[in-house]
Amino acid sequence: MRAEKNHGLEIIRLLSSADGFVSGQKISACLGISRTAVWKHISALRKLGFLIKAGPSKGYSLGAPRKTGLFNAITVINGLDAGFVGRPLHFYRTIASTNAKAMELGRNLAPEGAAVIADSQQAGKGRMGRLWVSPPGVNLYTSIILRPRVPLHSAQNMTFLSAVSVAETISSFCAKRVVVKWPNDVLIQGKKVAGILLELYSEADRINFIVAGIGVNLNMRLKQFPPALRKTASSVLEECGAPVDRSDFTRMLYSNIEKWYKIYLRHGFGPVLHAWKGYFDGEGRTMTVNMQDRRITGRCIGVDDSGVLLLKTPDNAIERILSGDVAFER
Ligand code: BTN
Repeated sequence: MRAEKNHGLEIIRLLSSADGFVSGQKISACLGISRTAVWKHISALRKLGFLIKAGPSKGYSLGAPRKTGLFNAITVINGLDAGFVGRPLHFYRTIASTNAKAMELGRNLAPEGAAVIADSQQAGKGRMGRLWVSPPGVNLYTSIILRPRVPLHSAQNMTFLSAVSVAETISSFCAKRVVVKWPNDVLIQGKKVAGILLELYSEADRINFIVAGIGVNLNMRLKQFPPALRKTASSVLEECGAPVDRSDFTRMLYSNIEKWYKIYLRHGFGPVLHAWKGYFDGEGRTMTVNMQDRRITGRCIGVDDSGVLLLKTPDNAIERILSGDVAFER
């Protein structure tokens, strides 16, 4: 959905900037559409959940306050600063996986920045083949298509870029310290509140496109998590104490992703990694990394310039870890 072509969005803009009622005639003149078309858009907006009052011979006024928790394509696009991230936006009430949809759109040549959001996912994909718990009405599940012209081996940079953008956005809504766990889990008070799954469509040595899939537990209550996850996972609401407006959060996330992406394209990975290190608290800690074929325990001595995790093992060897699942040893 492109903002400039969305009459529903234009109507919401007109009504929200007006002081009182706006006549159907004025809306029809401003948008260059018939009065019947205006009426049809108003009905569609009401079905989406907007409270629009109609006064005989007065026109329409927006009854719903901004902060109603509404979450749909219009509430996200309305006020979106980002120039290309989130444009166009494909919004679904429910879908198997926003990543799967974004991969399909990417293969069909969707432009860079195109994004998918779903209110719920039936088969949300996590890392290492796990499921991502995706109930409706509470969280953000989004996938963004990026087409960076960088070598294949730099694809992993996008993981760090996404993690920085997510951590920065959560920090704007929560006073508690937000931390990244290598490479891209986002935690508050030791509990995971967001995860990132990068999927790649590439040719032999060239990235065709990347899908950055981001799941943020925003307003989910602890009792909504499967019991097995309650010790390790949480939500921004549970950890910070205040609900988060999903539309506001999404807009800020898209702006942050766009900001870091532009920095990355202009200045390379250095500034992104520097920002990521500002959220990383693993240095000096003992951790076990589970990889597909083995597991290593050691003390973290940092990450190198390309984001590779460096562990010093008990026999003083330095292990370079390219991918894996980190668990801290207490
Ligand atoms: C992880 O395991 O930490 C990564 C979780 C990624 C979940 C998100 S939710 C939106 C997007 N769509 C998916 O199917 N997965 C990602």
